[in-house]
Amino acid sequence: MTKWTSAILTAAAVLVTAGTLRVSGQETGGWTVPEEARQLENPIAPDPAVVEAGAAIYRTRCQLCHGETGKGDGPATRAIQPAPHDITTTEVQERLTDGEIFYKITVGKAPMPPMEGKLSDEEIWSLVQFIRSLNQM
Ligand code: HEC
Repeated sequence: MTKWTSAILTAAAVLVTAGTLRVSGQETGGWTVPEEARQLENPIAPDPAVVEAGAAIYRTRCQLCHGETGKGDGPATRAIQPAPHDITTTEVQERLTDGEIFYKITVGKAPMPPMEGKLSDEEIWSLVQFIRSLNQM
């Protein structure tokens, strides 16, 4: 093997490894939520007024990225990486517990901003009820 063939093979191996890592990162979602947070239950019932309050917050703070109906197609998605995925599908809605949605909204994950200190717990729980109302089941 010449020096060049060996260099090319090494470079190819590095690229293959990097590609595999990227794919496995996407599969897990790469966003770990503590089990205690996942188990938290929503203390607020999904009354129409609660869902509407959640919708109003969603329109000002979330819609730009997540889109009008939660499909992940807001205008900001042209500029952000990664773009949010569709959070209305039954698959995603079943994967997420209420506590997990609450946690994710509270702490955020770049490019999604944390809502801790910006919204009260009650406001975040009403957002959780609004997100549940988006399920297309
Ligand atoms: C700047 C764009 C942006 C804004 C604003 C934003 N998000 Fe997100 N959101 C994202 C992105 C990107 C992800 C995916 C993050 C990841 O998994 O790496 C995400 C993920 C989520 C998830 C988790 C979805 C899952 O399948 O695990 C929920 C729930 C969520 N956002 C709700 C909200 C709510 C509610 C608001 C408003 C308070 C909001 N987001 C504001 C970009 C945004």
